[in-house]
Amino acid sequence: MENIPQSTAQPMPRIGDKAPAFKAVTTQGEINFPEQYSGSWVIFFSHPADFTPVCTSEFMTFASLESKFEQAHCKLVGLSVDGLYSHIAWLRTIKDKIDYKGMKNVEVKFPLIEDITMEVAKKYGMIQPGESSTKAVRAVFFIDPKGIIRAIVYYPLSLGRNFDELYRVIIALQAADAFSIATPADWRPGDDVIVPTAGSCGVAKERMENQKDMTCHDWFFCTKKISKEKVLETILKK
Ligand code: BEZ
Repeated sequence: MENIPQSTAQPMPRIGDKAPAFKAVTTQGEINFPEQYSGSWVIFFSHPADFTPVCTSEFMTFASLESKFEQAHCKLVGLSVDGLYSHIAWLRTIKDKIDYKGMKNVEVKFPLIEDITMEVAKKYGMIQPGESSTKAVRAVFFIDPKGIIRAIVYYPLSLGRNFDELYRVIIALQAADAFSIATPADWRPGDDVIVPTAGSCGVAKERMENQKDMTCHDWFFCTKKISKEKVLETILKK
């Protein structure tokens, strides 16, 4: 592992923080982040390098799912520490030449940030020198319509991300906001959700003695049903 001088170490943004602001050049023109995304959910993610196989598989998958994320009010923004012309050439190659798992002619329409100076990547803790000091790791920031970081996922260079999981996170975060609930392990729309834990002895007693619309496994662990249709009609664009 390389020795990083303390003076160059930057604190990483955390869940609940305001997403650090920056302006950047992208394959879709300049962006002012996160200001221009105000009112929308954003998945801001990094990848290690253009013209590499795992990243290519990820970009093709993400681009193929872009409309699904858009329907969930979520925009995609990518970043690597490569330059703009490398990004353009790579995205053209993906569209013109790569046929992978039934995906072909895939056009990446979401912005891909050039970050040769690593300024943005460092702001977001995407450079993790124990893994690589010249490439970003596979970081994913889920940012809400108010510009607050709501979830963060980090994968190493060798491990391609699971896009079903990224979609599940976006739906689960929005469901938690919309219904004031939490979501249990492996939750998917239609599964039972967790109601806030009883905050008084009276409510705990009531829940254990008189469970109406919920199932209580114990006083602190109660679930209720919200149908898949109700979750999706609340969250997804009509
Ligand atoms: C890849 O995307 O295939 C990759 C990128 C950097 C290091 C290792 C693999």
